Amino acid sequence: MSVSIRFLPEDITVAATVGEPLLDVADRAGVSIPTGCLMGSCHACTVELDGEEIVRACIYSVPPGRQQLTVNVFSDPTW
Ligand code: FES
Repeated sequence: MSVSIRFLPEDITVAATVGEPLLDVADRAGVSIPTGCLMGSCHACTVELDGEEIVRACIYSVPPGRQQLTVNVFSDPTW
């Protein structure tokens, strides 16, 4: 089942599969999410989902049960 992932602020939408790491999806979309530790502890990769949920992209995969997801990539230098 494919999920449509929309990246903001670039406004690029790509198809992804459930369970695919978010960083891989971003890579495919040509969107760069800042990363540091890649282990979920530095918060460099923090993104916002659907304007309501804050997650760390490096430890997040495309969730089941939805058809689309909006990922807002912050460029906040304080993270
Ligand atoms: S890269 Fe450090 S929390 Fe994701």
